[in-house]
Amino acid sequence: MIDEEMVNALNRQLNAELYSGYMYLSMAAYFESIDLSGFANWNRVHAQEEFTHGMKFYDYLVSRGARVTLTEIEAPPTEWEGAFAVFDHVLRHEQLVTGLINKLVDLAISQKDHATNNFLQWFVAEQVEEEETAGGILKKVKLAGDNSSALLLLDKDLMGSSTGSATE
Ligand SMILES: [Fe+2]
Ligand SMILES: [Fe+2]
Repeated sequence: MIDEEMVNALNRQLNAELYSGYMYLSMAAYFESIDLSGFANWNRVHAQEEFTHGMKFYDYLVSRGARVTLTEIEAPPTEWEGAFAVFDHVLRHEQLVTGLINKLVDLAISQKDHATNNFLQWFVAEQVEEEETAGGILKKVKLAGDNSSALLLLDKDLMGSSTGSATE
């Protein structure tokens, strides 16, 4: 039996993951508008990943016999001041999500809900990867600075990304 407070918290995280997907998709659209289609591709692929995260919460709730309740998804920003501003935002957002996941783990532990704690550990590991990836791209964008050739080279690199990783 899963506690109601836990169900509500997991539903809120489902919403947060869908918001993340929405945010990354908005970033993809922004990059399309400034003709950085490699960056757009990376963000688009990442949006899909976030929707998959949301579905993990959906499936887990269903598997525990709990009710999935979808709520309004907040509108993401639509404009940024260049690639550095976007990836600075990405890193801060992923750090925020790590905090949300940690709070969910705290709640699962306080309720001695070992199954939910076990389910959440996948996200604990995923967030380490997410912060590393975002931080890695942010560093490269910072290195490129005002050098448009360097930025275009990075854009070309990201064109092939299909895993959400900075370098793959
Ligand atoms: Fe996520
Ligand atoms: Fe994420």
